[in-house]
Amino acid sequence: MSLACDLRFHVSPGGCLHGRIRVPGDKSISHRAVMLGAIAEGRTEVSGFLEGEDSLATLAAFRCMGVSIKGPEGGRLTIDGAGMGGLRAPDAALDLGNSGTSMRLLAGLLAGQRFPVTLKGDASLSKRPMRRVTDPLTRMGAQIRTSPEGTTPLDIDPCPGLRGIDYQMPVASAQVKSSLLLAGLYARGETCVTEPAPTRDHTERMLTALGYPVQREGPRVCLSGGGCLTGRAIDIPADISSAAFFLVGASIAPGSDLVLEHVGINPTRIGVLNILRAMGADIEVTDRGEAGGEPVADLRVRGAALKGIRIPEDQVPLAIDELPAIFIAAACAEGETLLTGAEELRVKESDRIQVMADGLGVLGVETDPYPDGIRIRGGGLAGGVVDARGDHRIAMSLAIAGLRARSPIEVRDCANVATSFPDFAFLAARAGLLITERAA
Ligand code: S3P
Repeated sequence: MSLACDLRFHVSPGGCLHGRIRVPGDKSISHRAVMLGAIAEGRTEVSGFLEGEDSLATLAAFRCMGVSIKGPEGGRLTIDGAGMGGLRAPDAALDLGNSGTSMRLLAGLLAGQRFPVTLKGDASLSKRPMRRVTDPLTRMGAQIRTSPEGTTPLDIDPCPGLRGIDYQMPVASAQVKSSLLLAGLYARGETCVTEPAPTRDHTERMLTALGYPVQREGPRVCLSGGGCLTGRAIDIPADISSAAFFLVGASIAPGSDLVLEHVGINPTRIGVLNILRAMGADIEVTDRGEAGGEPVADLRVRGAALKGIRIPEDQVPLAIDELPAIFIAAACAEGETLLTGAEELRVKESDRIQVMADGLGVLGVETDPYPDGIRIRGGGLAGGVVDARGDHRIAMSLAIAGLRARSPIEVRDCANVATSFPDFAFLAARAGLLITERAA
């Protein structure tokens, strides 16, 4: 795993983005391909897998549980599924690094296994709330312990048997929903999860693609335990969350004209397109198709004059990971942008409201942070030295701000960009961002 404070981005002001690029594979779908391929019957051939630290942590965890996985090589994996009952006890605690998705989804998937297991993570992951999954899993009969603060490590002991649950989620979280559905595969009876607002549905789609019946009725999704999955080919689209930095970058830099290829445009992930368009962005969706049960398209984005907006609260869960990048668009827009209903941002890889408010403050942007959001006064960016606090999405958001900054920006503590987008600086430089990486 990466060392804190060992990488900095230096971005010279100006430039614009052009050409055609394909950003790496979707992180959420990459995790799920490994998890479901590992417990399926037969072979799952994956293409477009994200070779980032987070999804590699999931892959390593399943290798430690005896699953044969070849690759990754050029985004390809071959997983020989162990079947529903085929995972083996690992020799040591599973280290999931910075990855909240690995931690929360594995908590559910491993709650019904016949062996004990401990899940641990890095300093950032060790601060994140876990009771949101361990409480409902305990109600299902799981034997699972957190630290006294409700954080990792998680110690899971075998239980006599999980029972299905009918759970109304208090927060709109795809990780919680997915964790319970994965536990539900091993539970007696039916597991139903009702979400307060739509969240990404990659787990449901992939279960269906691997032949496991899943019922959806409005906000409620249900499955019955005791079935099995069948391995198949899974083509993973490019990650709209990684594309978001380029959507914002090209929008704020006059003269930009950039095509992002084969991007996943699942309706539960397109808040960033809806929000940027409402701000006046020029984004065209072309070449629509399908990959691995997910809708994909090419996105053409050109520079445009943006205006500040009140971000509709129903778009927040659909853009949850893209909000730091959207804050940069807001800083370059005319007028104010107001975000509310986004308290979840405070418990991501960092407190993304505060860390972005601090970074924007250094860059001369006025903000008012609130417990559940932020007000950003648009009008342009100065330069300066800003701190990403080890949060990959903050690092990339502050880097693309250079396209419109009046002087150079140095972004510190960027090593964790490797968790989701290892080639970010290379690809961004190829597209026209004046960025260099420096070891600190
Ligand atoms: C994810 C769900 C979201 C998102 C995270 C990935 C997933 O988290 O922020 O990056 O893959 O299910 P929450 O479920 O906590 O909203």
